[in-house]
Amino acid sequence: MTTESQATAAASGAGATARFRENKHVEGATSQERVNALASRLVKAVNDIVTDEKVTYDEYNAFKSWLISVGETGEWPLFLDVWVEHSVEEVANANRHGSKGTIEGPYYIPDAPVQQSPATLPMREDEPGTPLLFQGEVRNVAGEPLPGALIEIWHADDLGFYSQFAPGLPEWNLRGSITADEQGKFQINTIQPAPYQIPTDGACGALISAAGWHAWRPAHIHLKVSAAEHQLITTQLYFEGDKHIADDIASAVKPELVLAPTGRADGAGREVTYDFILDPRD
Ligand code: DHB
Ligand code: FE
Repeated sequence: MTTESQATAAASGAGATARFRENKHVEGATSQERVNALASRLVKAVNDIVTDEKVTYDEYNAFKSWLISVGETGEWPLFLDVWVEHSVEEVANANRHGSKGTIEGPYYIPDAPVQQSPATLPMREDEPGTPLLFQGEVRNVAGEPLPGALIEIWHADDLGFYSQFAPGLPEWNLRGSITADEQGKFQINTIQPAPYQIPTDGACGALISAAGWHAWRPAHIHLKVSAAEHQLITTQLYFEGDKHIADDIASAVKPELVLAPTGRADGAGREVTYDFILDPRD
């Protein structure tokens, strides 16, 4: 049987590329003026590095060969979401007053099955990992609850793999869309995810090992929270004490996003409360 631990960079890269093409529509989004300004700065930045660092032909050819393999293995979404998305997110959300956002990453799938709170995420009968009750309230910036808010949640399993991007996992494993109750409150039963290692056997992995970096992201839960008349927030939550909180390869940790779960009174795993504050739509 094919199992998730046989996941390859090429397969998750190809999956992430296909999903990106399906879900994000970018045609016509950029004027000639902006393309000229941004592309000119990018080209100049690269040329400045070549001049300053006295880049050799061997280094130039290694770079060319690496770029070709990023494309061949479909790893552009992984590369960009790890090394670039965090600053795009900072710029996009600079004016928000509500909850902090952070990067979406390459593994979001829209339209996960909808359930009403209290809910248990779809998982295997013997899903490994510590059970986690994730609960809280969705409010506006004035502190008023937002009944029926939608909490889309997705995360890796106890081995660090995402359903639909690693083989052998049920389609919607550890993914769901949960509607908050009339008081804007939600309760979601899941398992605590494991730290995630970006695939090491592809082009991004080759760069990481050639540069002597590490490939880890701290364990995290991805979320998109939305309500009528409010701005959707895309965020992630992390866990206190995680080895990679301070050196996330994707630079996406913020202090406000670190959870400190406690043991449940009934001994059944851990629980944590986190409230989301949504900004009004402008
Ligand atoms: C990547 C994977 C993630 O799970 C994430 O949250 C961010 C980036 C990646 O492999 O690029
Ligand atoms: Fe992730």
